[in-house]
Amino acid sequence: MVGDSRFLRACRGEPHDRVPVWFMRQAGRYQPSYRALRARYSMLQLARSPKLLSDVTVSAVEELGVDAAILFSDIMIPLDGTGITFDIEENVGPVVAEPLRTGHDIARLRTFSPGLLNYVFEGIRLTVDRLGGTPLIGFSGAPFTLASYLAEGGPSRTYRWTKRLMWAEEEAFKALMEYLSDMVVRYLTAQAQAGASALQLFDSWVGALSLSDYRSHVLPHMRRIFKDLAKLQVPLIYFGVGAQHLLADMAGSGATVLGVDWRIPLPMARAAAGSAVGLMGNLDPQRLLAGWPAVESGSREILRSMSRDPQFIFNLGHGVPKEVDPALLKRLVSWIHGWESEKMEEEGY
Ligand code: CP3
Repeated sequence: MVGDSRFLRACRGEPHDRVPVWFMRQAGRYQPSYRALRARYSMLQLARSPKLLSDVTVSAVEELGVDAAILFSDIMIPLDGTGITFDIEENVGPVVAEPLRTGHDIARLRTFSPGLLNYVFEGIRLTVDRLGGTPLIGFSGAPFTLASYLAEGGPSRTYRWTKRLMWAEEEAFKALMEYLSDMVVRYLTAQAQAGASALQLFDSWVGALSLSDYRSHVLPHMRRIFKDLAKLQVPLIYFGVGAQHLLADMAGSGATVLGVDWRIPLPMARAAAGSAVGLMGNLDPQRLLAGWPAVESGSREILRSMSRDPQFIFNLGHGVPKEVDPALLKRLVSWIHGWESEKMEEEGY
C-alpha cells in the first residue's frame, strides 16, 4: 500500500524501516534515457504529453530505486490554465514574453481554467497505475516564485521588478499573489484527486526576501494555501532556497514538511523549525560532481545527525545537476538504504 510507504510514513512522523530518499530533479538531463527523449521532444512537449511525462517520471524511479516519484513537469505549467504564454530555454529556465510589471498588467489576467491542464491529471493517473507501491509527489510553484518569473520575465539576480511591484504597487502585488494562490490550490487539489499522494510547493526564490517582507507579503498567502490543501489529507512539503532566516515562519505556515537547502545544518533547521514539522534535505548538489568520497562524507554528516529523527527525508539541497554520473546517484540511494546496518556495525552490535 502506498500509504504504508516509508516516504509517507516519514512525512507523517510515523515509524519506518529506513531513511527515505528521493531527489529534486531526479528526472532530467543527467539520465541517458532522458537525453534520448530530449533529442526528439522539447522539455515542454514532454511535460504536456500524459504518456511521455509518465514515462519520464517512472524511469527516474526505476533507474535510481528512490522512495518517491515526482511528477515530471515544471513550476510554470499551471500557467497553461491562465493564457499566459511562456517558454523554457535550455540553460536559462522559464521565459515570459510579456512580463506582468504593473497593476494594469495584473488587472488583465484571465480566469484560471484547470480544464486546460487535463494532460497533467491524465499523466498522474497513468503514472500512479504504473508506480505500484511507490508514492507520487505532485507539485506546483509557490506564488512568490511564480510571481517573480512573471514580473521579471525570466531568471533574475535582483528581483527588481518583483520587489518594485511589492513595494510600489502593494495592492496589485497582493492581487497577483491572490490570483496565483487560487490557481495553486485548484491545481494541487486536482493533482491529489488524480492520485498524487503528497504535494510540494517550490518557493525557490523566496530567500531573496527579508523576514519582514516575507511576513507581510508572502506568509499570509502560504497560510491560506496550506489551510485549503489540508482538507486533502496528504503531506504538504514546502521548499525554499537560501531561506534559513524564514524557517521558523515557514514552520508556522501549515506545511507538513519543510525542504531546506545545504546552507544550514539540519539540526539547526530543526531548532529553528521546532518539532511539529518534518524536514527534508539537504546534501549540497555540487558534491555529486566531486566524487564518491565527497558524497559519502556529506551524506554521513546528515545521517549521523538526522537518521533517528522520526520526520526526516533525505534529499539534495536543490536539484540534481545535469553533469552528474547516474551511477553515483544510484550508489547514494543504496548507501542511504543501508545506513541502519552500517551504523550498527560501527557501534559493535
Ligand atoms: O524530477 C523532478 O524534480 C521533476 C521535474 C521538475 C522540473 N522542474 C523539470 C525540469 C521540477 C520539480 C521542476 C521545478 C522547477 N522548475 C523549479 C523549482 C525547483 C528549483 O529548481 O528551484 C524551478 C525554479 C523551475 C524553473 C526551471 N525550469 C529552471 C530553472 C529550469 C532549468 C533550465 C536549464 O536548462 O537548466 C527549468 C527547466 C527544467 N525543468 C528541466 C527539467 C528536467 C531541464 C529541462 C531540459 O532542458 O530538458
